[in-house]
Amino acid sequence: MSDKERWEERYRTGNTPWDIGRPDFNLVDMVTKRPIPACKALEIGCGAGSNAVWLARQNFQVTATDLSALAIQKAGEEASDAGVDCTFLVADFLNDEVPGAPFGFVFDRGCFHSFDSDEERKQLAENVGRHLEKDGLWLSLVGSTDGPPREVGPPQRSARDIVIAVEPYFEVLSLDSSYFDADGPEPPRNWVCLMRKRH
Ligand SMILES: C[S@@+](CC[C@H](N)C(=O)[O-])C[C@H]1O[C@@H](n2cnc3c(N)ncnc32)[C@H](O)[C@@H]1O
Repeated sequence: MSDKERWEERYRTGNTPWDIGRPDFNLVDMVTKRPIPACKALEIGCGAGSNAVWLARQNFQVTATDLSALAIQKAGEEASDAGVDCTFLVADFLNDEVPGAPFGFVFDRGCFHSFDSDEERKQLAENVGRHLEKDGLWLSLVGSTDGPPREVGPPQRSARDIVIAVEPYFEVLSLDSSYFDADGPEPPRNWVCLMRKRH
């Protein structure tokens, strides 16, 4: 089964524990408290669209992409129900160019961390850089190796895994230890990594 088929299958069968139907508080906090001003934004691996819809509600002009056509269909329905305007596109962000660049802000929750090798994560980081304007920002929520041992849940990456992949293309502005917004009693730990494109 290809990666695309695997992700499609998860959306088709509803095996999407990351989909909490609301924006992740880590995104909300960063955008509202730093703050990150409204601009042209790109979300990669947007899933069913809750974060993209929230950004659009904050007046960002949002383009959101996912490898899964079913996820993109669900995201379109969510935006339409919310009465907001977003552009949703099926794209493989490891390889594809997304129309609308350059963007001022890129967001991903669980897309970067889904790649197992340094090479793929570097390739993704380079592609994020290509889509950003000068000094553009990337906020990535990445599953962490910290926290109690667990058998299931998001992929676990170390701070070192992140830095190895992003440092050639990005300055790391902050790397905070947090946890994913989730409904269960022990939300998985994550990294909240804010980066600025290198000149
Ligand atoms: C853990 S899910 C998170 C979805 C969404 N960000 C959320 O928080 O609800 C990871 C998402 O990345 C998408 N994805 C995986 N590989 C991708 C790729 N190469 N290009 C674009 N999206 C990809 C998957 O289809 C999936 O929707």
